[in-house]
Amino acid sequence: MSLAEGVATPFLVGTKPPPEKQLGLLQMLFNRPSNEFETIPRIAYEKPVWVWKSIFGTNVIVSDPAGAKRVLLDNVANYPKTDMERKMLGAIVGEGLLVSDGDKWRSHRRLMAPSFDFRSIVSYAPAMVASADQFCEQWAAKGMGAVIDVAEEMTHLTLKVISETMFSSDGEMLGQLIDRSLNKLTDAIDFGVADLLPLIGPPRMKKKMERIHQNFTEMDATMKNLIAARQKMEGSAPRDLLDRLIAARDGEANTQLSNDEVRDELVIIFLAGHDTTALALTYTWYLLSQHPEVEAKMHEELQRVLGGRNPVHDDLVNLPYTKMVLEESMRLYPPAPGLSNRAVLEDDEICGVKVPKGAQVGVIPWVIHRHRLLWDNPEKFDPERFSPERSQGRHRFAYLPFGGGPRVCIGMALAMAEAHLILAAMAQRFRLKLVSGQDIVLQHRITMRPRDGIKMILSPRGA
Ligand code: HEM
Repeated sequence: MSLAEGVATPFLVGTKPPPEKQLGLLQMLFNRPSNEFETIPRIAYEKPVWVWKSIFGTNVIVSDPAGAKRVLLDNVANYPKTDMERKMLGAIVGEGLLVSDGDKWRSHRRLMAPSFDFRSIVSYAPAMVASADQFCEQWAAKGMGAVIDVAEEMTHLTLKVISETMFSSDGEMLGQLIDRSLNKLTDAIDFGVADLLPLIGPPRMKKKMERIHQNFTEMDATMKNLIAARQKMEGSAPRDLLDRLIAARDGEANTQLSNDEVRDELVIIFLAGHDTTALALTYTWYLLSQHPEVEAKMHEELQRVLGGRNPVHDDLVNLPYTKMVLEESMRLYPPAPGLSNRAVLEDDEICGVKVPKGAQVGVIPWVIHRHRLLWDNPEKFDPERFSPERSQGRHRFAYLPFGGGPRVCIGMALAMAEAHLILAAMAQRFRLKLVSGQDIVLQHRITMRPRDGIKMILSPRGA
């Protein structure tokens, strides 16, 4: 089936048509799918703002770009992340940037921002390409025809990159440890409607939280060791994000960080900073394998611009189609498919719809990116959507893989450069073919992962 025939991507679970009606509470309790976005009914993909009531109160899904902008930017003070979500996330990953709020969030964000600016990203590019190169060597050693789990490979690769660029640390050692913690954690983060119900909810939550804390002890100890080892280095320490956090900890300024605060920021950068980028690359490899015309066009660009050599940061501007492939892949499979729910502090109106105080607002990239009012043939994988011509006039908030407003992903530019460089470097040497007959199940646990990985066959370029 080819893109030219206008065929959608019917291959992954999670892309089947949305249900006509919302699932009832009992169905949600006893028949919960691993990707709960599958339960969002068709109407949400057709209405700019969709309001429904449940036993938990009024829920509003805002998909109109101007409405999303109102929630995330224009009237952001009225829409903080919900206490419930902050508490739950906070219990899991600590009080780092993703979770904190108010003055603490503002000062930490300002403190960390320079590690994500253009100059820093350019300086990380060689390490990103070197890591991709090392993985290419490992793949070559496995031999053509070998089967890899591309999700696992991309996770290890992006962990290595984050460890080395943000913390100048041994990517192999830290990578393995965090991978272990993360896997246990992903198993443990399994919240559903039943956890919110009165009476049965609280004891279930307590048990789950205890499991999460147990699974986190190894990670916690490693972060503390990382901080302690760095403090001993004093003047010889590399100038990286870890250095910035520790300097603030020891400084006099009002941004002074406690030991626990440094730890929390490390954890969030590790967790938010690798899984998402790994997933963007994973789904891109998958989609390329299903759309040979797109793959061929991307290969042509890589060959023309790079001619077989590794990319450097300056090349990225000359690889627009490769970037469009990544952008389109994150449209169909946004690695963070739902932003944190937002609470409504005071009555408001969004696109003419009354939004009452106390309601809960969802801005859901998974829905927005497949919304019938915003995209032609939304299920179709079509990178050209992101060409300058076809992007003209598109509302900035119609495409939200990184969120928007002041809480927009701090790692957005870094992640884009990283994925772009890795894809360019690796796709010059390998094609990945999907192993047929496997059941790919999407699982939503903060990010959207293929539950059992995606098995692909290594084949050389041109084969
Ligand atoms: C393709 C890769 C990535 C995707 C799709 C992604 C997506 C997102 C999204 C959607 C949010 C906003 C959440 C919300 O508003 O509820 C976010 C926030 C965040 N991301 Fe990313 N992210 C990616 C890569 C990264 C990287 C590489 C880092 C760091 C190295 C990072 C660190 C963070 C942090 C710290 C926040 C919280 C920011 C704040 O609230 O101030 N992310 N990310």
